[in-house]
Amino acid sequence: MTPQPDEIEGPRSCGPYELAGVLDLANLVLRTLNTPEGRPARWPSIGFDYPHVFHPGNLENIRVFVRRGRVVCSVGICPGIVRTPRGDLSVGGICALATHPEYRGRGLGTRIMEDAHRKMRADGHHIGLLSTLIQDFYRKLGWESGGRQRVFMFDRGNIGLLPEPEGLEVTEDWRPRIEELNRLRLREPVTSIRDSDRFRLLMERRTNRVFVGAREGSVVAYAGISGATVQEYAGAREEVACLLRAVFDRLDDPRVSTSQRPPGQRATIEMRILAPELGEGLPGLLMEMGVPHSLGYLGMIRILDPERLFRALQIREIQIVPSDGRWRLSYRGAACTLDERELVKMVFGPERLTRFAADLLPMLFYQWASDRV
Ligand SMILES: CC(C)(COP(=O)(O)OP(=O)(O)OC[C@H]1O[C@@H](n2cnc3c(N)ncnc32)[C@H](O)[C@@H]1OP(=O)(O)O)[C@@H](O)C(=O)NCCC(=O)NCCS
Repeated sequence: MTPQPDEIEGPRSCGPYELAGVLDLANLVLRTLNTPEGRPARWPSIGFDYPHVFHPGNLENIRVFVRRGRVVCSVGICPGIVRTPRGDLSVGGICALATHPEYRGRGLGTRIMEDAHRKMRADGHHIGLLSTLIQDFYRKLGWESGGRQRVFMFDRGNIGLLPEPEGLEVTEDWRPRIEELNRLRLREPVTSIRDSDRFRLLMERRTNRVFVGAREGSVVAYAGISGATVQEYAGAREEVACLLRAVFDRLDDPRVSTSQRPPGQRATIEMRILAPELGEGLPGLLMEMGVPHSLGYLGMIRILDPERLFRALQIREIQIVPSDGRWRLSYRGAACTLDERELVKMVFGPERLTRFAADLLPMLFYQWASDRV
């Protein structure tokens, strides 16, 4: 029998005895049922992957619809601060939106996202950020693809361009040095604020190896790797480059035989480096070397309060006022009117919709892969 809408409670925050049900639902929908055809079922790993979202101290940020004690739709919000050269942005990461298959298509997903927007706004977040394959579902809710991420590629043919790690002591014994690594990270031009516990948790759960480079006992660079992908790094650009060359050597297996390669896969490794779009630091160095790279979206972004966002970024030169459900911007005698999704591209790029305020926008914004949910 189809349940009556009034039997479903929510959207509201998750109760202490509902957290396990949220994980059951998220694992069912995003792992078990989200297995590509013909492959073994994906393991239920939402709890392991996102312990910083789905924990008893974050129940207010876990939004649910519940029917007779059973969680039928849920989403997690992961609060975080991104430090940019223009100011700190408070970011709500949207994690594991899921509706039970028997409850889909009746507006629960839409309503829980609207509730998440309200909650993020109430908590002072400037923007929401998420990764998804269902962009058009989120577009209806005011989200748009935006922000920039560079992905650099190395294999055996170009890794030799990076400087020899001569004199660099490389170790994977990173745990005793968390504070030093975290301090190094804070010197990057765009970074997130993490305490030592958060740093350890993210490195353990979002990466599978962490390499540290030291000279005369002092840490000069580190890199967090997942598979053959560098999820994050920190340090002076030459030191990070040396370390990544050493990392490549450790990831590369010299015994691999090219004639016994598994079908559809490369025979030997390709190391990907995920990085902010910067003319300085490691990305600047790799661009100068002509290392192949692509530019992609950071994710989907929703600006929760454009006026507050502009104040946080100290973009006082641009006036922004609401105008008939859109936003009117003026700057040095020029003006333009944009809807909320166009505003995402204007502020975060990569596409340039107009030449308006091209000297100020898009701004530098990046959330490192380990911080993303
Ligand atoms: C994405 C997901 C959460 C949507 O949940 P939902 O509760 O079905 O969401 P809604 O009912 O609000 O919207 C779903 C569709 O039904 C339509 N719809 C909404 N209310 C409706 C109603 N009362 N009657 C009929 N259709 C309706 C929506 O317009 C939407 O259409 P679309 O598929 O063309 O975008 C759900 O499909 C799901 O769990 N998918 C798998 C996991 C996933 O992809 N999660 C997102 C990870 S980023």
